[in-house]
Amino acid sequence: MAENSSGVFPRPTHDEAARQRYAMGLRAYLFGPLREAVGRAFYAKVAPEYEAREGRPLEDRREARREILKLPSYQYFSDLHRVSQDMIWNSVIDTLDRTEQSLRDAYRELGDDCDGSIELNPDLEIPNYISAIDIHCMPGNYQASSGDDDVVAGALYDRGGFLYSPGGGPQCDGMGRTSLGFLKKHYPDIAPRRILDMGCGIGGPTLVYVDEFPDAEVHAIDIGAAMLRYGHLRAEAMGRRVHFSQQRAENTNFDDGSFDLILSHIMFHETSAKAVQPILTECRRLLAPGGVMLHLDLPKPDLLPDVYTKIIFDGDAFYNNEPFWMRMHDLDWPGMLEQAGFAADRIVAGIAPVSMFIPPTRDNPSGDWRPGRMALSAIAASLEES
Ligand SMILES: C[S@@+](CC[C@H](N)C(=O)[O-])C[C@H]1O[C@@H](n2cnc3c(N)ncnc32)[C@H](O)[C@@H]1O
Repeated sequence: MAENSSGVFPRPTHDEAARQRYAMGLRAYLFGPLREAVGRAFYAKVAPEYEAREGRPLEDRREARREILKLPSYQYFSDLHRVSQDMIWNSVIDTLDRTEQSLRDAYRELGDDCDGSIELNPDLEIPNYISAIDIHCMPGNYQASSGDDDVVAGALYDRGGFLYSPGGGPQCDGMGRTSLGFLKKHYPDIAPRRILDMGCGIGGPTLVYVDEFPDAEVHAIDIGAAMLRYGHLRAEAMGRRVHFSQQRAENTNFDDGSFDLILSHIMFHETSAKAVQPILTECRRLLAPGGVMLHLDLPKPDLLPDVYTKIIFDGDAFYNNEPFWMRMHDLDWPGMLEQAGFAADRIVAGIAPVSMFIPPTRDNPSGDWRPGRMALSAIAASLEES
């Protein structure tokens, strides 16, 4: 199994690694052969029965979900979806229970002698769309933090994220590579001096931009203190300069026009219908003349090939504590960008083919990055030069 390669996540023991590998394998089995088997039952029974009864094909994803719930194999599949997710987190917690103190010590030892920086705000009000539920069943969620050296949420996300989605790469940088591909395609001449990554988590995608634009000053914000501490520890360990701060994307403390490039990666689907407009308005305020804003998130349903794939994809809304996962696609994103002050002819709503990590093999011991089969939705806008 490929390991997280930031050098910060503690090495699992043999037994811990075996348990983590099992959780990862169960997920691969679930979304591989088991998903295909349930799909065969869906197309052999559920879809034709619906068509015979209703006189029209079963194409609407919400209707299709109601129908598939009657299928015992889907009931089993969806239960296992939840169970496998819990197994992933629990398997990582074993390692963290054993190593938490050494991670806290490593964070303390960083002190002030750093390339980058971190600024935390213990008074930050955590939005209720985050505090109401443990998103994707992650125990304690993004905001859990106990004491001023706690990094557990970040470490959990680092390893758990890799087990959940190994295609994102051992350095959790797949999203950054994917957004960068989109950026380069649509804004080939961009040369930002100041970059902001919103909802940065542990900064996996952020570091891609540090490498791509080595002269830029890179800022990264998130609501989770322990996520940011771990991100800071990790960035320093990897020799990358990032300025982390604990802030809400709706209302930051940066001056007007501070950034030439504003990014987010899979942040919006974990917010809410109410939060989207204020965040876009804040992006417009923060963007300098000539600047670019780019948000990458879940694929719109029409990017998925068939109704069964849509049902399976929507499963995270129901079995993985992702309440905004489906609803985000009902919003009029270009309309909201215009409302935030972006000109209609400078908005790009497009698709970003995913960069996928192919794990190491004997012939290719470091693994490889290839274009994946999936694409994510991207929405971008630029401002005119003044
Ligand atoms: C799914 S994670 C993605 C993290 C990172 N962008 C990545 O791709 O690895 C979503 C992140 O957005 C953060 N977040 C959600 N709402 C936010 C808000 N209003 N302001 C700042 N961060 C937010 C969460 O705390 C979480 O770390």
